[in-house]
Amino acid sequence: MSLIIYKKKDYNKRRKVRIAYKTDRGRLYQTKAEDFFSSSKVKVLYGKVQLIFTSPPFILNRKKKYGNLTGEEYITWFAKFAHDFKKLLKKDGSIVIELGNGWEPGKPTMSTLALQALLKFLEEGKFHLCQQFICYNPARLPSPAQWVNVERIRVKDAFTHVWWISPNDRPKANNRRILKEYSKSMKHLLATGKYNSGKRPSEHHIGKESFNKDNKGAIPPNVLTLSNTKANDNYLAYCRINRFQPHPARMQNGLAEFFIKFLTTPRNLVFDPFGGSNTTGAMAEKLKRRWVSLEPVDDYVYSSVGRFKSS
Ligand SMILES: C[S@@+](CC[C@H](N)C(=O)[O-])C[C@H]1O[C@@H](n2cnc3c(N)ncnc32)[C@H](O)[C@@H]1O
Repeated sequence: MSLIIYKKKDYNKRRKVRIAYKTDRGRLYQTKAEDFFSSSKVKVLYGKVQLIFTSPPFILNRKKKYGNLTGEEYITWFAKFAHDFKKLLKKDGSIVIELGNGWEPGKPTMSTLALQALLKFLEEGKFHLCQQFICYNPARLPSPAQWVNVERIRVKDAFTHVWWISPNDRPKANNRRILKEYSKSMKHLLATGKYNSGKRPSEHHIGKESFNKDNKGAIPPNVLTLSNTKANDNYLAYCRINRFQPHPARMQNGLAEFFIKFLTTPRNLVFDPFGGSNTTGAMAEKLKRRWVSLEPVDDYVYSSVGRFKSS
């Protein structure tokens, strides 16, 4: 794989959109998404993107390094992207958005802002909600700490919402590309042919023909259990060696892998407007899809290069 990295000093300060690095299949622009969408660079992507896969800056009750917006400001800011995203998508394209849970500042109650932002985004883009997913992270540290660890009046907030959206009610998708390995008991049933067919207490009739067939794996549910604990991956090693702080909100590689496989095929174009450590671009590269990612913060841009180094 070729990797060309453009040094920070090459950056002409008047330009708000610049390529920071590129590979054979993709490029990361150092830019804010709003600057990219108002630049001429965006036009070559119109109607070409199969999947917009992203985890936008979360709505937080405290400021993180990259200065998240809060409240109504966020809802308005995010909804504006509905039109921009729609122009990029192919007719059968999809948008997948990961949104974490937010909490009210200083109170043990949840914020509905993420849900409001999603609803406004759907309305603005006249999008269909194809399916909701839950991404459960069993290794997530207990939070919000005050309510969970100190006062012990709430439990661990351990999942994010993943919303699959499209302008089309039948976007390109194929669950045969994301089959899970059969459980031990299912493998046994298939091997012995002793499937317990017939009527279930739920009144469903389970036919032997359909359930005793080897479909090369099980159809996954919409609850994805994914940890982010692989300490030895290229990205973390690169951050350690080059003294970068790893991105604090990077998503699980498996989440990007699941949706890229499910909703695209090789050579399709995947776009992530809030790239962070570029999990999306790196997974797209690995799966032989083309990709474009955006990220404004220097350290996140240059540490994400580590995902494209072989070791
Ligand atoms: C939740 S993180 C994305 C994490 C990413 N999925 C990963 O796996 O590393 C959101 C990213 O959006 C970036 N961001 C914040 N405001 C932005 C803007 N206006 N345009 C583009 N990116 C922005 C932040 O710097 C942050 O890296």
